[in-house]
Amino acid sequence: MKASGMKDSYLNFANSPMGSRIAAALGLPRPVLLERFHAHQPVMEGDVLVGASAGAQWLPTLAQAFKSMQIHTVAHEVPQWTALCNQVGLMSGRWTIEGQAGARVKGLVFDATGLQTLAQADSLYQFFHDTVRSVLPCGRVVVLGWDPAQCDDALQASVQRALEGFMRSLAKEVKRGIAVQLLQLTDDAHGALEGALRFFLSPRSAYVSGQVVRLTAALTTEWTQGHDAPWDAAQPLQGNTMLVTGASRGIGEAIVDTLARDGARVVCLDVPAARDALQAVAARVQGSALSLDITDRNTPAALVQAALADGGWDGVVHNAGITRDKTLAKMPEHLWQSVLQVNLGAQADITQALMQAQALRAGARVVCVSSIAGLAGNVGQTNYAFSKAGVIGLVHSLAPRLAAQGMAINAVAPGFIETQMTAAIPLAIREAGRRMNSMGQGGWPVDVAETIAWLLSRSAAGVNGQVIRVCGHSWLGA
Ligand SMILES: NC(=O)c1ccc[n+]([C@@H]2O[C@H](COP(=O)([O-])OP(=O)(O)OC[C@H]3O[C@@H](n4cnc5c(N)ncnc54)[C@H](O)[C@@H]3O)[C@@H](O)[C@H]2O)c1
Repeated sequence: MKASGMKDSYLNFANSPMGSRIAAALGLPRPVLLERFHAHQPVMEGDVLVGASAGAQWLPTLAQAFKSMQIHTVAHEVPQWTALCNQVGLMSGRWTIEGQAGARVKGLVFDATGLQTLAQADSLYQFFHDTVRSVLPCGRVVVLGWDPAQCDDALQASVQRALEGFMRSLAKEVKRGIAVQLLQLTDDAHGALEGALRFFLSPRSAYVSGQVVRLTAALTTEWTQGHDAPWDAAQPLQGNTMLVTGASRGIGEAIVDTLARDGARVVCLDVPAARDALQAVAARVQGSALSLDITDRNTPAALVQAALADGGWDGVVHNAGITRDKTLAKMPEHLWQSVLQVNLGAQADITQALMQAQALRAGARVVCVSSIAGLAGNVGQTNYAFSKAGVIGLVHSLAPRLAAQGMAINAVAPGFIETQMTAAIPLAIREAGRRMNSMGQGGWPVDVAETIAWLLSRSAAGVNGQVIRVCGHSWLGA
């Protein structure tokens, strides 16, 4: 547990025996301590209750995925589920409500791909109406739907798009640290579903909720070509070398630790002024340290050289970033320029240089750190929001080009994360930032790091050009 997670004293108070009684008596919010991943933990500890609309098309793939993840399932009125489970050898039990809330489960998964009309949407209502109170704290809810863009029929496209509004509202209702997501599937995404479930059902996604993630064909062939090591779910990044910028502290430091835990060799980069801290982080994970300013005009070429010397990199995490907040009328030009250059210009220059020099290995994955400020905007952050929205533009533009080479690029958009950056925010604004989300608390650096580690891994092979918010389902720009 990182110390940064302990700076939220109200969260600790509300979870103490006395504090929880006081908070309840005064009607104060009671955010729960989120469950985080620890080594050797299974994907999910507890049963998943499976439901489906009539005509659901992904149940066979789901049954295989649950078997492979060793998750026990239960089902309620989905006759074809038992037959499928028998076929693939997945153990499944029967879930009953008997007039009250049924047996408690850790997760709900509903296959809504059969929904084509409004009348059929009643099955969605009925399933969640009956089951939602049965989900344990820090449980997971996943809805599967089609990517509306691939639905020929307008009503079907509209019903599938409607799942977004449903999912986001449910994510605001469930509370108790429960996360809710919608996975939008394309016809060819079968190889991508299990990897997405491995992340979204597990405690690795503790602070990710209310997200719509589009899954397409998995890039498994290209990935396998570039990697000799066999797939190991406990060490998914084994054999990979990956660059992390802004690695000496905060979110960057957590990314380094998480990638190393998952088996990667990490190249840690930060400004020369942070040399000592950087070297300590790199030494801790037996990685290497590069003391470079990403905005220096020689840095892209230096990184190409370093990558080629390593035989190419398998991943790049553009995490380094700065804030220089002022309302626009009061903002001196140099604050505008420095934020744009660090947060956006350097990410673009370095990525393009590595691509042009073919310094990324087959199957390589790039993750850019954006921010919810780039999605929602924020007072005093025209420069920061410009740069962080620009990062999303970069990801969207480069995604098809990288996919053509068997690679992928995605962004994470953190919300309020407990770091030195947010510790510097005045108390009243800091408290608002912490509480204005469905989890009622700030996230920890490790929450961003887990999401990035997943995006860098084979488990996210069907994810490209996406923005995943790590914001506890923040109310800003949701
Ligand atoms: N903390 C949050 O709540 C939050 C929210 C949204 C997005 N983010 C983003 O997450 C990333 C990490 O944030 P953090 O909170 O850990 O910040 P931080 O200030 O603790 O760490 C940022 C790191 O980047 C390094 N850096 C800055 N300029 C650099 C340069 N020119 N060259 C090389 N390294 C440089 C810094 O030295 C520092 O080590 C940033 O991109 C930030 O914008 C953070």
